Parts: sequence; structure tokens; C-alpha cells
Amino acid sequence: MADTKVYRASTTAPVNIAVVKYWGKRDAKLNLPTNSSLSVTLSQADLRTLTTASCSNSYTEGDSLTLNGEAADVAGARTQACFRELRSRRAALEAADASLPKLSAMPVKLVSENNFPTAAGLASSAAGFAALVKAIALLYELPDSPAELSIVARQGSGSACRSLFGGYAAWRMGEKADGSDSKAELIAPASHWPEMRALILVASAAKKGVSSTSGMQQTVATSGLFQQRISTVVPANMASMEAAVHAKDFAKFAEVTMRESNSFHATCADTYPPIFYMNDVSRAAIRAVEQINAEAGETIAAYTFDAGPNCVVYYLEKDASTILGTFYKPLAEVTGWKEGAASIKSTVELEGSLAS
Ligand code: DP6
Repeated sequence: MADTKVYRASTTAPVNIAVVKYWGKRDAKLNLPTNSSLSVTLSQADLRTLTTASCSNSYTEGDSLTLNGEAADVAGARTQACFRELRSRRAALEAADASLPKLSAMPVKLVSENNFPTAAGLASSAAGFAALVKAIALLYELPDSPAELSIVARQGSGSACRSLFGGYAAWRMGEKADGSDSKAELIAPASHWPEMRALILVASAAKKGVSSTSGMQQTVATSGLFQQRISTVVPANMASMEAAVHAKDFAKFAEVTMRESNSFHATCADTYPPIFYMNDVSRAAIRAVEQINAEAGETIAAYTFDAGPNCVVYYLEKDASTILGTFYKPLAEVTGWKEGAASIKSTVELEGSLAS
């Protein structure tokens, strides 16, 4: 009799915010980057995607995805690439052991939910694709390590490969044309630096004008500054950032974080026509961080911006009252931004291994 059982697995994946930015693809199909990058993983208590993957021969509609309660597209090339990779890994297990159920041939149903408001305007593709890949890998009982699975998640969205880890994760750009060495690895678990905190200032919840995918393609094609960024700026920043994290040197971590954000947005401005992700509120946040550091007489806060106007401020727990106190006042005055309404405070967390 045909197997109509429903097989199911659930998992979560965190949001990561890059402190050395991925911006540029050398292979758009495989999502191979022009530079390595490094990120900090935010606490899943505040920000995470929860995904349940199931498969069954009784799913007659084929593969499907429900995202925050609404049907979403699974036909896109990136989602298809993830499905294909995971199915072929499962098929290899089934070929080696005839007693295993033939899950690789069954339609997959994915149900995915974010615990953070969509209105927060945060990029969710990293946590989304990481959760998708982890959930199907669990469903298929794949023996692959998080680093191996990061190769699959990368094909969904580049930054997703770093969300397979907690703490501090690096995505090594790799050299091979097939992308088999372009994967993420853990630099340090969150427990290495438990005092680290992140505050997210929501400058606008609106969807970004130019997507990361298209923005970075335009930058690669037209920016002269970009060449210098990938050949000298980023390699130096990767080395300094790794050393700063290992040494728990906040001043160095903060300086590289801010210089990186500035360098990335400078290449966006140098793109032709230019791309502007930051707005007046973003620039007010930068000035507020500069003022905090000037008044402290040392660097106790760092800003960074991705492909949108929202600001992430890194600081240490000992400086929480200074940082939070400052942000709840001047920015509100400058922008009319309401206290507590649009900020998400997050601790950096250690993510459990896939097997747990
Ligand atoms: C500015 O990972 O969203 O956040 O690979 O095209 O899906 P695709 O791009 P995506 O780009 C993220 C860009 C960034 C920097 C970063 O996260 O490293």
C-alpha cells in the first residue's frame, strides 16, 4: 500500500546583522559573493523565524509555503535551488538504505512565521531561508553539519548562510566556481562575549526601495569605489573584526563596524545612478552615536545599517542606561519617533546545534 503518512519537523532560525557587509555577487545564480562577511546573531527571543516542514504523498497540490499565514511562492529559483539540493542529499541516503521512506519524492509543505512585526521593516530573508533549510534537513534526517547546510541556505539568500549559527559567524567567500567552499562558520559563540547587546531603531517600516539583490548588482556593475572595497577594505576589516571579537575589544569592534557600514553606504552612493538606503532619521542616529562616544570619552556604541534606513546599535550591557537613555530622547525630538514604539532590544545569543 502506498505510504500516505505525514512526516514532520520544526525548527527556528535567528536574524543576523552583518558588521562586515556582504555586498556584491561574483555568481548570481549560485549566490557567490565578491567578499567575505561577518555577522552578529540576535536573540531568538526577540527575532526569529519558526518553520515547520512536512512531506507526504497525500499532498496532492505539490510543494507549498505559507508565510505569516499567507500563501507564498515556492516557484522562485532560489527556493527551488534549496529544495533541489536538500532532496538530492535525502535521495543519496535513500539510495544507500532501502529501508528509509522515500521522502525525497514527496511534496513538501512549509509553514513559516516570524515573531517580529513585519512593520519593523527588518530583512527577514536570512532567518527565513536558514529556517527553511534547517527544517527540511531535520525532516530528511540529513547528517550534514551547519557549515554544509550553509552552502544550501546561501543559495536561498546570501546572508542566510550566517543564520545557521549563533554568536559571531563568518561567511568565507571561497574560490571555487561551484561554490562548495563558499560557506559560513562560527567565529565565537555568544557565550564568549555575553555582555554584547543590540538595539534596533526602526527609522521606517516601509519596504526598501531597491532590493539587496538588485542594489548589489548595480553597485558591482557601476561603482569604482567598490573595486577598492573588495580588494583592500573588506579583507582588512575581516581580519580586524575577527581579532576584535576574539579579544573582546569593544572599541575596535565598534570602529570596524561603523567604518564598514560607512564604506558599504559609500559604495551605494557611488553606484550610478546612486542608491540611498539611509534617511534623515538614520543620519540622526549616527550623530547620536557619535555624541554618546564623544561624551563618554571612549567608544561605547556602534551603529550599522543594512539595505534600509533602520539602525542597529551595538553596545555592552554596562552602558545600557547611557545608550537607551540617549536614544529614547534626541531621536524622538529629531524625528517624532515614539518611545518604545519601534525599537527592539536584543541580546546576542548562542544557538544550539542542529542535532539538538
Ligand atoms: C546589506 O542576503 O539579502 O544586508 O543574497 O541577494 O538575497 P541576496 O542578498 P541579501 O543581502 C544582504 C545585504 C546586507 C549585508 C549583509 O547582510 O551582509
